[in-house]
Amino acid sequence: MTAKQLAKDQGPAIEVRDLWAGYNRHAALEGISFEIEPGCLAGLVGPNGSGKSTLLRVMLGLHRPWRGEVRLFGQKVAQARRLLGYTPQVELVDWTFPVTLFDVVMMGRYGRLGLLRRPGRGDREMAWRCLEQVGMADLADRQIGELSGGQQRRALIARTLAQEPRILLLDEPVTGLDAAAQHDLLHLFDDLRAEGKTLLVATHDLSCVAAGFDHVVCLNRKVIAFGEPRTVFTEEVLNATFERHLLLVNIEGKIYAGHQ
Ligand SMILES: Nc1ncnc2c1ncn2[C@@H]1O[C@H](COP(=O)(O)OP(=O)(O)OP(=O)(O)O)[C@@H](O)[C@H]1O
Ligand SMILES: [Mg+2]
Repeated sequence: MTAKQLAKDQGPAIEVRDLWAGYNRHAALEGISFEIEPGCLAGLVGPNGSGKSTLLRVMLGLHRPWRGEVRLFGQKVAQARRLLGYTPQVELVDWTFPVTLFDVVMMGRYGRLGLLRRPGRGDREMAWRCLEQVGMADLADRQIGELSGGQQRRALIARTLAQEPRILLLDEPVTGLDAAAQHDLLHLFDDLRAEGKTLLVATHDLSCVAAGFDHVVCLNRKVIAFGEPRTVFTEEVLNATFERHLLLVNIEGKIYAGHQ
């Protein structure tokens, strides 16, 4: 039995039910519902301000919803924190903090250690493995402030991997990466999926979702559509999701999307 089949017997990895959330009485999410099976690579797409980061933060218990709930492997958010790994949008991190890349990845281990145990050889080996997985082992001693934008993104993903989560929530991990780094990252997503991990990736990159993701949630405060990218990515759905933020070109019946 594959890891994926094994995981499928456990019910949905992510279940979002009639979720409402917002800030200062302004709704950012209205009646969101969807389910993601274990071992799936799912995309969360929508224009700026459509609620992607808010949804991820609610799933993490960092933002309290007004109504509705999220279940992770059947558990409430408060109980499921250890199942989750989260990579925030890179802009939200303080990169002037004087630590090395290796230190940052090791931080991913601390949540698992508890209060009394110090990190051991196994933890350091795991941190190295995660750095290798994102192709950055040679930069381990660099100060994090000296990394490029694309390297910083990969550093955050390595830290998330070091937590050994069953569910990974990644907020715009591919934005700003060059073609080679993007390609490597998509391969990494494939590997993680093959290990039975569940990934929910907020992204503006529709072509990468169309190329290799199992499911996609099109978000614009509400769920505009949910399903396999090849059935969901129609002109109608993309127009409703992105409104004027996306330029759609119809060439001989095929839809091409570009940002304006
Ligand atoms: N801390 C906050 N306080 C008040 N309003 C907020 C806050 N964070 C987000 N918002 C508002 O909530 C809405 C959803 O924002 P959110 O960051 O979830 O969107 P997003 O889809 O992640 O956008 P982007 O693609 O730009 O990252 C926006 O209207 C935004 O202005
Ligand atoms: Mg965001």
